[in-house]
Amino acid sequence: MAWWQNLNQLESAFKSCRRCGLRGGCSQVVVSRGTPGPVVLVGEAPGADEDAQGFPFVGRAGQLLDRMLKEAGFDPARLYITNAVKCRPPGNRKPAPEEMVACRPYLMAQFAVLQPEIVVTMGATAIQAVLGRTIPVGRASTRFYHARHREREFLVAPCYHPSAILRDPRKYPDAVARWVDIRKRVEAAGLIL
Ligand code: URA
Repeated sequence: MAWWQNLNQLESAFKSCRRCGLRGGCSQVVVSRGTPGPVVLVGEAPGADEDAQGFPFVGRAGQLLDRMLKEAGFDPARLYITNAVKCRPPGNRKPAPEEMVACRPYLMAQFAVLQPEIVVTMGATAIQAVLGRTIPVGRASTRFYHARHREREFLVAPCYHPSAILRDPRKYPDAVARWVDIRKRVEAAGLIL
């Protein structure tokens, strides 16, 4: 079966998930936007706009994300964008540890199909979901990490969550500089997007 058929099947399987209580309180499971490929962006969880429209990062944080990506030379439509947790937590609270655990197999299944070369984590929840440990974002967002999934190594590039920049716009220039750095890594890996 072609990898994209696998991905389609996988994404439809997500839609009937009842592994935690979040699905009961949200409108729909929000899986991804963009293009499946070697560069995967992971956020925290859908907010109200994402829950209503069915795609990740389509609200204010998403608009800011797209602006930063474009400024750094990326076409957002050519990246694969998803979240650590696929259902909106009530009132946009942080996902609880048991919700993260319940949803992690889906993120790992996405990685298994996509076989990413570079995974960008946006915010602390995404770092926890991808690396399996907590690292303060301020420190992590100047570094690159190596992670492994099913014997395949990939690079992890933590950065600030766009909501953190909405809360503190002084972070904007550093945040864009980080995306420029990530863009250079993407190019150096021969993944010109
Ligand atoms: N914040 C996230 O982490 N993900 C979204 O999809 C939207 C806002």
